[in-house]
Amino acid sequence: MNVSSPVHIVGRLLGETAYRSTRSNSLSSGQPFSGRLFDVDPVTGFIPAQPLSRLTGEFSLWEDALGDASRVLKLGEDKGEEAQAKRTAGERWRQQLRTWPVLDVARLGDKRTRWRRAHYVLACLMHYYIHSLPPQPAGTAIIIPKPLAVPMVEVSKKIDMPPILTFADIVLWNWELVNPNEPVSLDNIRFLTLFSGTETERNFYALSLAAELKGAEMVEIFERFMNLPCLTDRTAVATVARDLERIVPIINELSDILQGARSNIDPHIFYWAVRAWWDGSDASRPWVFEGVSPYTSFELGGASAGQSSVMHALDIYLDVDHALKHPRQPSPSPENRRADTRFMEKMRRYMPVEHRAYLTQLQTRSLRDLVQRTPSLRGPYNAAVEALKKFRDGHIRIGTLYIISQARSVPPAFMGGSEAFSRKDERSKGTGGNPVGPLLKAGRDATQRAILKD
Ligand code: HEM
Repeated sequence: MNVSSPVHIVGRLLGETAYRSTRSNSLSSGQPFSGRLFDVDPVTGFIPAQPLSRLTGEFSLWEDALGDASRVLKLGEDKGEEAQAKRTAGERWRQQLRTWPVLDVARLGDKRTRWRRAHYVLACLMHYYIHSLPPQPAGTAIIIPKPLAVPMVEVSKKIDMPPILTFADIVLWNWELVNPNEPVSLDNIRFLTLFSGTETERNFYALSLAAELKGAEMVEIFERFMNLPCLTDRTAVATVARDLERIVPIINELSDILQGARSNIDPHIFYWAVRAWWDGSDASRPWVFEGVSPYTSFELGGASAGQSSVMHALDIYLDVDHALKHPRQPSPSPENRRADTRFMEKMRRYMPVEHRAYLTQLQTRSLRDLVQRTPSLRGPYNAAVEALKKFRDGHIRIGTLYIISQARSVPPAFMGGSEAFSRKDERSKGTGGNPVGPLLKAGRDATQRAILKD
């Protein structure tokens, strides 16, 4: 989904730090596999069952600034009338932020939810700050001021995520309940941060959340497979056959949800006014975290639905080989090989650490091996793979409509038309810096190659 900025890696990755060791995210032998051990809810999946509460006390400083941001900030590249009218108020917002005290994040306490909320708030503030700055010539570093940079890096280290806006920030954690007495559902959710303030942005988050909630229905299927006591008896085969049949309509519904984008997500607005807010760092305008050791380096690609753990879990369950590690038919095309075969692996680093651990655990058992040994499972397995391949066929069409075609368009008149965006050349690239078309096709072709032939 986002889609424009290359992953900017400057040397060493963020360490697998302290926060990890405080949680149980690997199973001891004999312990049943349960999503709950990895912060995966049986109903809401990777979305928390409760919203993250607003930070209080001294940290209200951050929350309040985030509350003000959408009123006073527009994209720096926006040359429209409204953006021009807001320039002074926007500069005042950034100026105030530069004078803040550097808050001590240790005072956030012990609760994981508070650290996640801090990541969400700081990442949003950081993207507001960076992308509202007036455009700078190529080669100019973007300085993230110390009062933002230091806590952002500290919080990110603590929860073992990169110091940048992720799919978790904009979708998994970016909402509150309309009625707190009712459970999480699309109708009972209000999104908090809309960078562009547009319905298109809101509908994009709603679409992504709908896909997450639908995908959550697969969690019990993964769990059942992982907990089968034995993979050779008839009960196991019958269970797997039934679950593969169950998963097909879920994947088909994911396809329908994705295609629903066409009804209320405007491709032109999405492309020009929304996704630019999610962009990560790129080599021509590196981000510098003021007050942080210059030798520390980070993952700084922009937010993408490629970071949706539920889609990764499905790929693992069906054993889709994005990295081209296994010889499968038909052989990858030269274009497949040129695409970033490590894209999905890289996207994992942007997920909450517990969800990464969940995926690692899922990888310890192979459904495809079982299917290969069991001819009666081949049909149901291939049907599920075929459904996922169709999802990706549809996703290529969406990527073409929302990114590739729009890259040739002129920015909307309300943003100043052709005056807006000096950096058009980079804008049909994916998050990994790859051209979008070959990347999405490589994912579709890798899915196709999972099909087992007779
Ligand atoms: C308007 C809606 C969407 C657009 C325009 C879109 C576009 C893209 C693009 C351009 C990429 C390439 C990687 C990147 O740069 O981020 C991508 C990757 C990806 N997107 Fe989407 N996306 C949309 C919605 C969704 C939804 C709802 C899902 C999940 C159900 C999803 C799942 C993925 C996955 C898993 C990847 C990784 C590559 C792959 O699996 O083929 N996307 N998307």
